[in-house]
Amino acid sequence: MANPLTSEEMKSLRQFHVLEIGAAELYRTNRRWLKDEELARTLKEFGDVEIEHRDTLRQFIAKYGGKPAWISHFARTGATVVASLVNLFGVRARLRFECAVERKAVRDYTMALEMAKNEELRSLFEKYRGHEQHHIDVMTKLLERGRS
Ligand SMILES: [Fe+2]
Ligand SMILES: [Fe+2]
Repeated sequence: MANPLTSEEMKSLRQFHVLEIGAAELYRTNRRWLKDEELARTLKEFGDVEIEHRDTLRQFIAKYGGKPAWISHFARTGATVVASLVNLFGVRARLRFECAVERKAVRDYTMALEMAKNEELRSLFEKYRGHEQHHIDVMTKLLERGRS
């Protein structure tokens, strides 16, 4: 097995795994009902990135001898319910909500980077934070474009 992680590092891995399960569902839910094809494509692209995050974090947990958080078994259903509710308020509400979740992810990855010492974990968190920031930037532009 790889060098052990501190309990804090393992805890953050498990938390990010849950967060990324939710993020993947958020982008998937009701996407095929979107009328704007470009937006649907963009959200599909983002969703694929979140699936990659989710699955890699899951592999990291196993690699370092941990188990996913119990709540991860319910995260998918929970996120689908929340995403469906948000969708009732329209596309802009959806984008704003997705942006808020991404901002939380960026904040959490930044906090985790202040604590994590393991190099492999750090480079993963840094890479993922960059992806989430990119998602925020694109959606912010989409929201601004819709305003004009
Ligand atoms: Fe992610
Ligand atoms: Fe993201």
